[in-house]
This record gives sequence, C-alpha cells and structure tokens, in this order.
Amino acid sequence: MTPPRKLHIKSYGCQMNVYDAQRMVDTLGGVGFVETADAGDADLVILNTCHIREKASEKVYSELGRLRVAKEDAARAGRTMQIAVAGCVAQAEGEEIIARAPAVDVVVGPQSYHHLPELLARAGRGNRAIDTEFPAEDKFGFLARPSAAAIRARGVSAFVTVQEGCDKFCTFCVVPYTRGSEMSRPVEKIVDEVRELADNGVREITLIGQNVNAYHGEGPDGRSWTLGRLLHRIADVAGVARIRYSTSHPNDVDDSLISAHRDLPALMPFVHLPVQSGSDRILSAMNRKHDAAAYLDVVDRFRAARQDIAFSSDFIVGFPGETEEDFRATLALVDQIGYAAAYSFKYSPRPGTPAADMQEMVSATEMDERLERLQSLIDSQQSAFNRAAIGTVVDVLFERAARNPGQIVGRTAYLQPAHVMASPDIIGRILPVRIDSLERYSLLGKLVSATAGPPAGSTASLVTIGA
Ligand code: 5AD
Ligand code: SF4
Repeated sequence: MTPPRKLHIKSYGCQMNVYDAQRMVDTLGGVGFVETADAGDADLVILNTCHIREKASEKVYSELGRLRVAKEDAARAGRTMQIAVAGCVAQAEGEEIIARAPAVDVVVGPQSYHHLPELLARAGRGNRAIDTEFPAEDKFGFLARPSAAAIRARGVSAFVTVQEGCDKFCTFCVVPYTRGSEMSRPVEKIVDEVRELADNGVREITLIGQNVNAYHGEGPDGRSWTLGRLLHRIADVAGVARIRYSTSHPNDVDDSLISAHRDLPALMPFVHLPVQSGSDRILSAMNRKHDAAAYLDVVDRFRAARQDIAFSSDFIVGFPGETEEDFRATLALVDQIGYAAAYSFKYSPRPGTPAADMQEMVSATEMDERLERLQSLIDSQQSAFNRAAIGTVVDVLFERAARNPGQIVGRTAYLQPAHVMASPDIIGRILPVRIDSLERYSLLGKLVSATAGPPAGSTASLVTIGA
C-alpha cells in the first residue's frame, strides 16, 4: 500500500474559498491525500487565491517565492513537492503565473476543481497544467462530499455554496469575470448536503454565493425557486438550528426573503447587505443600479418584518471621482442605518474592470483619511451595538474550546463571539448566556443557571465577498 500523500492548502479571501478549499480536500482525499498543517512537509501545496483587491493578489506572488524555496529544499531531501494555484488569481492571471513562477505545477480556476486529480497527474508526468475553463458540466456533481469524520472535525457551523457567479457588473468588481455568470444549484442537491451536515453534528448552516439572493435554483417541482423558498426548505431539515445567508445585493431582496425573516425563527436576524457608497452619483458610476433611498427602503422592509434585525455592509472609499460631498453622503447613510458591523476598503483598480479606466483618481492621502473617518464611525456603531448586549441574556451556539483553559466560545445571533467558563459538553448546543462585559469585540458572560470562572477575551473576524 502506498503511504498517503500530504496536502497543505492555504486559502485567502471569502467564504466561497473556504468552502471550495474543503471540497478540494475532500476530492483529493479520494486519490490518497491527507491534510497537513505544515507546508514544508507537504507533497502538494495549494494556494487558493483572492483577486478582489490588488493587495490580495500580490500576496500570491510573494507566497510563491517562499514556496519555491520549500520546493527546492524538498527536492534536495529527495522528495517531490507539487505546487498548485487555485482561486480567482488563477482564473484571472493563469498564463502569467505559469510564465512568472516556474515552480508552479498546476493552475486551476474555481470552476474546474473537480479536474484537480487529473491535472496533478498530468503535471507529475512533467507537463505543467492550466485549466481556467468554465466547463459545461456542474463541478458540484463531481466534487467529493466530506466524510462523516471530516464534517465532525470541521465543527458545528458550515458553509454550503448554493449560488456562484454574478451578473451585476459593478464597475469596480472582478467577480463577474473570475467567477463567471450566475449559476444556482438545484434545491434537492443543497438539501441533501445540508441533511448530511446536520446528521453529523452541524447546527448552523450559512448558504453562500457571490450574489446569494439572486438564487434561482431548480426546485423538486421543476420550477425556479427563490432564496426565500429555499430557506423555508432548509429550516425543515432536522437538526438545523440556525440559518444564515451571504452575500446579498439590495436589488435582489424580494418579498419571499423578507417573509422568510418574518416566518423562520431559525433564520438569524443579521443580514450582510453591502451598499458600497451613500452617494447617488457614485452609486451610479459604480453601476450599482440602486440609489441610497432604495437601499434604505430595503432595510426598512427587513426591519418591518423582524424588529431585532441588524445589518452589516461593505463600503469602498475613494472610488474614482468621489468628492468630499460624496463621501459625506456615505457617512450620512451609515449614521442613518446604524450598523452592527461593516467592512470598508480603499478603492483598488482591478485590470479589466470599467472603473480601472476612470481618470479622476482620489489621492492616496485622501483615501487614507476617508477610510479612517469611516472606520471610526463604524467602530463606534459596532461598539455601541456590542455594549447593548451587556446585562441581557442572549442565545449562544457554542463552537469550540477557547484559547483560555476552561473557556468555551460560541456565537450570538449577530455573530458576536461570546465566551463562558463551562464544560466542553456544551459544544454544539445553543444556550442562554447572561452577558457581563465586553472585551474588544468579544462578549463575556455566564451560562444562565451555571457558576462561572474568570473571563477572558479573543477577537474574531468574518471575511465576506461579493454583492
Ligand atoms: N476595490 C476595493 N474594494 C473592492 N471590493 C470589491 N472590489 C473592490 C475594489 N476593486 C469590495 C466591495 C465588496 C467586497 C467584497 O470587496 O466592497 O463588497
Ligand atoms: Fe457582483 Fe457584488 Fe461584485 Fe457587484 S460587488 S459585481 S454585485 S459580486
């Protein structure tokens, strides 16, 4: 019997990449690979890359420089290390990677991960392989499902991709080019996957897609189902206690999604709804196809359906042509909404996107200054939101042992990390916690009806992408 080969996979960027990385591990497990945490020790290293901003792409080339050295070290020790580049940089710059980085054996785009075993075999025979096609077949049908043991090892919260690609073509964004046009998986395939996860201890399902609420997958009745209808179906799966979805576009919020929030207690009242800017002029230049008033109206519809709903968003500062007045409109919108969290980025021109040809660049100093002002406003809103939990009792889904001995950490409905002193038996359960204090972004508390020890903190972040 040949010993298992070791696979190390490093993922950058969004939840879609986290999910894809798991499916690559599952698929390569079928041809004899096991995961290792140590890149230097691996027979295969996969970089699962992100192309959304320039900084994210640059990381790939510096990481490849380090891996070239590791590959040479392995060769000196008589081992072969293969290097594969996956993800959106692979899709966008495949040929360039092959030309610039001779140590790379395989380049594979997000729609072709099911071809990985074959590409690696081809590279093993001395032919460097590149596959950045958008094949006609659905990769999901070919990617292996995780084993029961792998599901359990990955914890109580899982992502499930239901939709990929985007047809919106915001002028700053590479996603429509790297991930292709919108594709939705059939309802029954998703339900089967969710059922398998729930049967193996998963309690929280996050349905993901670059533009998840544009979901229009085929239902068992042969009709096209909306995300709202899919959410109702997922809520019926035994064992699923919490449901989330990400990332949404304001224009694709329909009545079925709003009523899902009204009708489904398992659907968490926390919605990531990127707006990007509060200025109508900039929203139009971004080709967002909505103005600030339309966004506010969508938020009001959610709030009318579920009073305890909270929002997070993405913002871009320094989009070409953004004036101080435009930027103030963004601050005003943030003021008006009151976010529980938000991500903000400096505009980064991406090759091939319409905005990359726009001339009126905002200066680096102005961008820095605007980013700081926006982030301090968002930070103050987030702190206020978190502080409001102190003294209340909130439901927490416990996920794992925390760094501090004896502490268990979980998440509230709003994805706030919450720490308690308790036995690890509570992992996988949703229990009420009385919140005593806040340490940075973490809530500290006690299980209701339990005695607790001294508190400690940690922080966590969630990276999102799309819409
Ligand atoms: N520059 C800066 N931020 C960007 N995003 C997408 N493209 C760019 C870009 N070219 C941000 C958007 C999106 C998030 C995932 O990344 O805010 O919602
Ligand atoms: Fe699509 Fe979102 Fe990118 Fe716009 S920002 S093109 S909606 S993925």
